[in-house]
Amino acid sequence: MSKIKTAFFCQQCGYESAKWSGRCPSCGQWNTFVEEKIQKDIPLRNSSWKQPELSSAADNIVNLSEVSSTEDERLITGDAELNRVLGGGIVPGSLVLVGGEPGIGKSTLFLQNALQLSQITTLYISGEESAQQIKMRADRLKIQNDQFFLLTETSTQTIFQEIKKLRPQLVIVDSIQTLQSPFIEAAPGSISQIRETTAEMQRFAKETHTPVFLIGHITKDGAIAGPKILEHMVDTVLQFEGDQHYAYRILRTIKNRFGSTSELGIYEMTGYGLRQVTNPSEILISQREDQLSGVAIAATMEGMRPMLVEVQALVTQSVYGTPQRTATGFDLRRLQLLLAVLEKRGGFHFGVKDVFLNIAGGIRVEDPAIDLAVLCALLSSYEDTAIGSKICFAGEVGLSGEIRAVNRIEQRIAEAEKLGFDKIFISRYNKQGAHSGKFNIEVAPVGRVDEVYQQLF
Ligand code: TYD
Ligand code: MG
Repeated sequence: MSKIKTAFFCQQCGYESAKWSGRCPSCGQWNTFVEEKIQKDIPLRNSSWKQPELSSAADNIVNLSEVSSTEDERLITGDAELNRVLGGGIVPGSLVLVGGEPGIGKSTLFLQNALQLSQITTLYISGEESAQQIKMRADRLKIQNDQFFLLTETSTQTIFQEIKKLRPQLVIVDSIQTLQSPFIEAAPGSISQIRETTAEMQRFAKETHTPVFLIGHITKDGAIAGPKILEHMVDTVLQFEGDQHYAYRILRTIKNRFGSTSELGIYEMTGYGLRQVTNPSEILISQREDQLSGVAIAATMEGMRPMLVEVQALVTQSVYGTPQRTATGFDLRRLQLLLAVLEKRGGFHFGVKDVFLNIAGGIRVEDPAIDLAVLCALLSSYEDTAIGSKICFAGEVGLSGEIRAVNRIEQRIAEAEKLGFDKIFISRYNKQGAHSGKFNIEVAPVGRVDEVYQQLF
């Protein structure tokens, strides 16, 4: 009997090494190497999803012009948010990885979607919950579907045997960390198991044109556990995120071979499952009568969709020698950069102030067009003067204090107008002449930070 082979894997990035080392040479993290049992050099046909025997090599080569395009065969789900995030529905044979923190609602989202797809046979494979638990959840969602099948199993060999019997048109795996390939000795959730089981799922998806969703847990620092290697293997990576204290959940595209990566779906967790939020601006702007200082509204874009969000800032006299800077929903380094711009270009003394910044609604915004609103919220709190509640902003701020042009300005202006705003500040460089006449809303082009300041305060 041969000796069991082992290898060391970096649990952070998946780097494989024959020897243990304190620091991963690939990602530079410390203490991430774990020894895993592996059975190396297994021929492909030994994996749980068997490839058909190949008669001759020529059969594998196809002429590209003879390959049928599957573009129009996408499976459209009842969930418009999911369809958009996937780039217009589920692509046949695609492998989609969905990451998210525990308890955020991944299982709920996919159970709900699978139950709604009554026109196709769906197999939901759960290694985490019992059939009773899933039934209880389905009852809570109040959706009936007799084309929905459940399998509580973790061995990929058994899973593929069942799949061959049922022939489902959609497969959901909850979660990839629970799967176990009998050809690998390592424990479920280890790097080598995740890699092998994902590879088996990938071969299955590609050979049968069945779309497969893999649910995956993420580590504390937000990466999908069992890491980057997975991102290369799958077609699409989605991230389900949200603040535990808010009901809103965001489904974001991280990678997509079949669509744009900047798409976003917004849901609200209710007592009976996730509800699609079709007009996010209305919920992200708090409905208030009185005007408060430190609040500014940004006209941002998330993917193709305009969204108005509220930026809240609090600037106070610092008690300690080192002033505090905190940002929620916004990049802290970006905040520090904007403060430096205000200090240097505007002559404001933020160096002696504590600064707290928050994006309302518990969402995270990456669109640079939010800069101008962040800056105005900071100034508003600094001056303790409220900005009119019918004013919003869309512009990126450069290091020399210039307001830079942002993309899709017309959509942003149109959204602001639709939501009843009177005035929007944009960059002078956004060719405002071309569209200012089209809107009823007042479009105020500005070139520099001090111009905005003079017009507002
Ligand atoms: P779940 O889908 O189990 O999360 P994940 O699979 O990402 O770990 O969601 C769990 C949370 O969602 C749990 O805290 C309860 C809540 N929830 C609702 O608020 N309403 C519902 O209808 C359901 C099914 C769950
Ligand atoms: Mg779950």
